[in-house]
Amino acid sequence: MTIRRLHLLGSPVLRQPSTPVAAVDDEVRRLVDDLFDTMHAAKGVGLAANQVGVARRVAVVDVGEEFPPPLVLVNPRIVKLSDAVETAEEGCLSIPDIYGDVERPLAVTVAALDRDGQPYSVELSGFKARAAQHEIDHLDGILFLDHLSAVKRHLLVAKWKKARKGQAGYLKEVTPEPAGEL
Ligand code: NI
Repeated sequence: MTIRRLHLLGSPVLRQPSTPVAAVDDEVRRLVDDLFDTMHAAKGVGLAANQVGVARRVAVVDVGEEFPPPLVLVNPRIVKLSDAVETAEEGCLSIPDIYGDVERPLAVTVAALDRDGQPYSVELSGFKARAAQHEIDHLDGILFLDHLSAVKRHLLVAKWKKARKGQAGYLKEVTPEPAGEL
């Protein structure tokens, strides 16, 4: 189990478009495993590779439901979007303690490669669809803040900067909570 350090808002890797994966090899599989470990330790529901400093098009989603099972998204693409939209609150492991209401299509179909490099597509709706869209945004260098009005975004960034005052850098160690702690 390898928990990697998280890159926080301000880290340039969060703003650069990630590079497609040419072949799903052992290194990519290790990255996928580490993304799941890091996401679970940080109590997130999704994590993109650039959030651990790796600018490759790899992300994972686990909203804690059995179906669909946790998603491995290698070179993911949104191939279908619903006209219906929904607004709900989002946060991001790279912007701790900052939340905003984001409007997104309610349902999406995502095509990607799995952990074995096999192509698949999956229809997602509700929270799962939102999580997948949020992670695919990361791979394009987009953060949930970018979907907000300029006024709201500036407020949240100011709040973030105030909370970060005195803290250098933009790397965060993830420490899983000790067993038994609520
Ligand atoms: Ni995020």
